Amino acid sequence: MPEGTSASTPLEESTTDSTWAVLVAAGAGERLGIDRPKAFAALRGRPLLAESLDRLDRCPWVDAIVVAAPPGWEEPAILLSEELAAGKVVSCVTGGTTRAESVRNALADVGDEALVVLVHDAARPLLSDDVVERVLAPLAEGYDGVVPALSVPDTLKRVEGDRVLETVSRDGLVSVQTPQGFLASALRRAFAGDLTDPTDCASLVEQGGGRVVVVEGDPRLLKVTTPADLALVESLLTTPG
Ligand code: C5P
Repeated sequence: MPEGTSASTPLEESTTDSTWAVLVAAGAGERLGIDRPKAFAALRGRPLLAESLDRLDRCPWVDAIVVAAPPGWEEPAILLSEELAAGKVVSCVTGGTTRAESVRNALADVGDEALVVLVHDAARPLLSDDVVERVLAPLAEGYDGVVPALSVPDTLKRVEGDRVLETVSRDGLVSVQTPQGFLASALRRAFAGDLTDPTDCASLVEQGGGRVVVVEGDPRLLKVTTPADLALVESLLTTPG
């Protein structure tokens, strides 16, 4: 995209050949209670990271991948991508102390030719091409950011400790997942600023006035946080989806 062009300029069909993925895998994942970072927890005999890396590498919409690895785990991450023959991996950077810092470190290695950047959590292994396709579509219509989301099925309550303060209306509320997709220019602008406490990448783009939309997420894209999540993902892996 030419210098100075508005972030809302619709992408041409032909520009989809420069979609980069940032795969953030640098979290400690303390709630898993294992002796290694979450991305290297065993999922059906291989590191958790392998699942999303493999899927992104085989995704026809993705051209290049940058991985953010936990400090000290860059080498194993590179070896893993070699073992998987993940040829789209162009670099593996050291992650930061927060997710946003990990994204920023990876973004620095995203090529200037990138028009679209997908940011995905390695902690969500069950990525599908369908979700990626849904996330990419609105970017071609001029949106700056796209977030896969699910409706909230449970009743929501605001609490203080164990005391219920109020019941919160679910109207207009969704829970969001990754991969989140962005025009590269919009994401770079958002990450040039203050990264204090962003909940996700999209929130930074929203704060900068970017136009962000939601598309349908995928219940299988659940995030691994606890050993129970890992067991659930393991069982879903054996279920055709
Ligand atoms: O901690 P949580 O599971 O919410 O993190 C979401 C994703 O962000 C994970 O894939 C994790 O590896 C990544 N992350 C990161 N750098 C951090 C913290 C989290 O890359 N400092």
